[in-house]
Amino acid sequence: MPAIYTIDQAPPHILLHLVAALAAIALGGVVLLRQKGTFAHRLMGRVWVGLMFVIAFGSFFIQARGHFSFIHVLSVVTIVTLLAAIYAIRHNNVRAHKINMRIAYASLCGAGLFTLLPYRMLGKLVFG
Ligand code: HEM
Repeated sequence: MPAIYTIDQAPPHILLHLVAALAAIALGGVVLLRQKGTFAHRLMGRVWVGLMFVIAFGSFFIQARGHFSFIHVLSVVTIVTLLAAIYAIRHNNVRAHKINMRIAYASLCGAGLFTLLPYRMLGKLVFG
């Protein structure tokens, strides 16, 4: 297994992961900044959670160095956090919903920063 792909060699599931992640950064930011509890919030929030599940579950099919890495722990944490946020709002616990969604968005941004590590695909793309 190669240490890492370049972006033009990346298989479809990695491109899907990348596109979903970039969309989730943008949409999640909009949802966090806009008014909460509205129809638009619930609609955009559902789309965002869908993107996050695609990112997190899809990541188990990505093993950049041929085996699971510490970043896969973040995938598990993200899935648990999203489920906790959904459970909370279904039980009218707005505070727990808010905290868990913020953690999920922070994890998304954190994972995005980790992609810039020099040995990773985007790190190589950005830093050469
Ligand atoms: C802006 C956010 C994100 C971007 C741009 C991004 C991008 C990528 C890319 C390009 C890869 C494949 C090539 C590589 O490892 O360098 C990858 C792998 C991976 N991503 Fe993401 N991702 C993001 C968010 C996430 C999130 C939120 C999670 C977890 C919930 C996640 C979990 C993983 C895992 C586990 C791998 C495999 C890493 C490995 O095998 O060492 N990513 N990501």
